[in-house]
Amino acid sequence: MRTFLLLSSLVLSTGAAHAVDEAAAIELAKNNGCLSCHSAKEKIVGPAYSDVADKYRNDKDAVANLVQAIQYGSKGKWGRIPMPAHPNMSAADIKTLAQWVMTAQH
Ligand code: HEC
Repeated sequence: MRTFLLLSSLVLSTGAAHAVDEAAAIELAKNNGCLSCHSAKEKIVGPAYSDVADKYRNDKDAVANLVQAIQYGSKGKWGRIPMPAHPNMSAADIKTLAQWVMTAQH
């Protein structure tokens, strides 16, 4: 039993190396107020995450750039309303959110 658990957690952790934990990302987005300005499919105050994913689909630096935008704020890319900075979030949480945004679909 113990061997089985060990093996399955190994498989899960290697298999998930580049995948985003969607449930965890949604929790983070809720807890950090992202969803009061964003949704996956509709523009609210900020752009729909599916539109963000479309815009940067072919940009290999997309995640790194979105991390910067979330951490330091963003203005002028989508319209006249700026996004505030999120200085109190951990780098890991911001990266999870940036990766998750890039998986959003219409
Ligand atoms: C007060 C409203 C507000 C909140 C809260 C907010 N955003 Fe935004 N967000 C915006 C606006 C407005 C823009 C467009 C900024 C621009 O035009 O550059 C934006 C842009 C973005 C972009 C695209 C940046 C780019 O480089 O194109 C991402 C990704 C994003 N937000 C993610 C998040 C995440 C993740 C959170 C939570 C940690 C969050 N936002 C919280 C309003 C908000």
